[in-house]
Amino acid sequence: MTALRVAVLVSHTGSNLRALYEASKEPAAGYEIALVISNNSGSRGLAFARGHGIPAAHLSGRTHLDPGSLDDAVLALLDAHRTDLVVTAGYMKKVGPRTLAAYAGRIVNVHPALLPRHGGPGMYGAAVHQAVLDSGDRVTGPSVHYVTAEYDAGEVIARREVPVLPDDTAESLAGRVLEQEHLLLPAVVRAIAAERTDPGRPS
Ligand code: GRF
Repeated sequence: MTALRVAVLVSHTGSNLRALYEASKEPAAGYEIALVISNNSGSRGLAFARGHGIPAAHLSGRTHLDPGSLDDAVLALLDAHRTDLVVTAGYMKKVGPRTLAAYAGRIVNVHPALLPRHGGPGMYGAAVHQAVLDSGDRVTGPSVHYVTAEYDAGEVIARREVPVLPDDTAESLAGRVLEQEHLLLPAVVRAIAAERTDPGRPS
């Protein structure tokens, strides 16, 4: 059975990339990390990929001044690496329209709140967790969803609940949600891989 070829787009730390990579090494994972792209040449995610022999590239507004040519370069690289699934994991840029169209239904993102709550423009990093605290929600947690042209608006695939504790800060909440992201994201990718290779699935 051929493994699902996954490209991961990252901007900074890349802890979800690491979790995905580690889970891909488990015998029944059914997927492999085929490519990493970062818009940030100094990102730890890019360094991790290079250190682990994963094909990796820096593509950004610095390497391609024109947004259309950047979009084309991302798309060409995804195609060149025979990408089946794109995962945006802490990727702080919008995926370009041509890439979005070519990989429609094959791009997933992890968001650190229970969508549709606390998503949309400006809802990233500590702002998400602060919004959870400010709204008085008793429960939060990560969501994995399909990527569409609007931020955090695509269909939700899976979520995991994390209780909000009385003395939580945005930082403490972020840490506990991130731990769950590291479990949820590989589980979703494994499930997508399994679905694709399920011999009982009608074609
Ligand atoms: C995660 O909280 C993710 O939900 C959000 O950005 C963060 C990325 O963390 N989209 P990392 O780079 O994977 O460590």
